[in-house]
Amino acid sequence: MIELRNVCKSFNTGTASETKALENLNLVINEGDFVTVIGGNGSGKSTLVNIISGTLMPDEGEVLLRDYNLNKLKEHERAPYFGRVFQDPMIGTAADMTVIENLALAYGRNRTRSVFRWSYKKADVQKFIDDLKTLDLGLENRLYQKVGLLSGGQRQALTLLMATNRNKPSYRRIKRDYVRFGKGDKKAAKIEVKEAFLSAGEKYRQDKSEINQKSISKEAKKALIKKAFQEYDKKIRKFDITKPILLLDEHTAALDPKTAKKVLETTERMVNEHRLTTIMITHNMRDAIRYGNRLIMLSHGEIVADISGEDKAKLTIETLLEMFVTKSKNDMLSDSTILGN
Ligand SMILES: Nc1ncnc2c1ncn2[C@@H]1O[C@H](COP(=O)(O)OP(=O)(O)OP(=O)(O)O)[C@@H](O)[C@H]1O
Ligand SMILES: [Mg+2]
Repeated sequence: MIELRNVCKSFNTGTASETKALENLNLVINEGDFVTVIGGNGSGKSTLVNIISGTLMPDEGEVLLRDYNLNKLKEHERAPYFGRVFQDPMIGTAADMTVIENLALAYGRNRTRSVFRWSYKKADVQKFIDDLKTLDLGLENRLYQKVGLLSGGQRQALTLLMATNRNKPSYRRIKRDYVRFGKGDKKAAKIEVKEAFLSAGEKYRQDKSEINQKSISKEAKKALIKKAFQEYDKKIRKFDITKPILLLDEHTAALDPKTAKKVLETTERMVNEHRLTTIMITHNMRDAIRYGNRLIMLSHGEIVADISGEDKAKLTIETLLEMFVTKSKNDMLSDSTILGN
């Protein structure tokens, strides 16, 4: 569902320090893939995810999301489709805002109009508490504390939650994205979604007027209308075909081993729970082997190994190291990559 076609990216082109970060890269990542990416320093790992998220534009080639050419969209326009967590715990969250304000900001990100809306309804608070409980870090008791007071690991876990657990998209966005990312004929999709929305709306209006004519209490009417609305909402949300794709760039590298393990386990749980397509860059061979269903090795901006399924499950540190040495043309290996600690 994400495809890179002949992607090239160089830095400082035409100067003595010209670097080819990605060289004619071709890659197809299927829906639901959890890909770990490994490679020496400067092999192009961060550039790869930056090209996907739109932080960088390719010099040549295309990035496609479900057949839609993402080159057309700027980074902020792609933001609703990607959840990112970086190495630096300071980046993903706003230190001066409270835990709950950070969550509200992230949960509001999907709304097309109010990007910076971070006020929250009372009803949301319980959801925030429930979500924080799943992290098992006691953050549900620290809702009104500034995020700057949290540890690096707690901030990374919170960033993960914010990256995966977004607000439901607006109806307008559902409609647009169904046409944008849907398979097949765009015109037909446009008509299909428009008609479905109209008929759902019509049915809801009818139900509402019937309910209002009933000789029952105001409260009973309210409850029935709520139910009718939920049915309407369900019909519309059937057309929501987008889910955030998780892009993780060494998101546990700055954490102590114990906290890193906890954040990685949380990552895996969230990926499985939401069946998220995930790209996880890591310097740690053991983690690259342990997590995900597919492993990609980069060297000098090229994919030199792509291992999935049973072959991935059979990988050992030894075989991966051997592969690294034979395939990665004198790339630098950091100690933690070799030791996998
Ligand atoms: N903004 C930039 N300006 C100049 N060169 C860059 C820039 N970003 C990346 N590069 C170069 O492109 C190459 C690939 O960099 P990239 O950051 O993708 O590597 P990486 O695999 O993520 O490395 P690391 O493991 O150290 O994070 C490197 O040679 C790097 O120096
Ligand atoms: Mg990097």
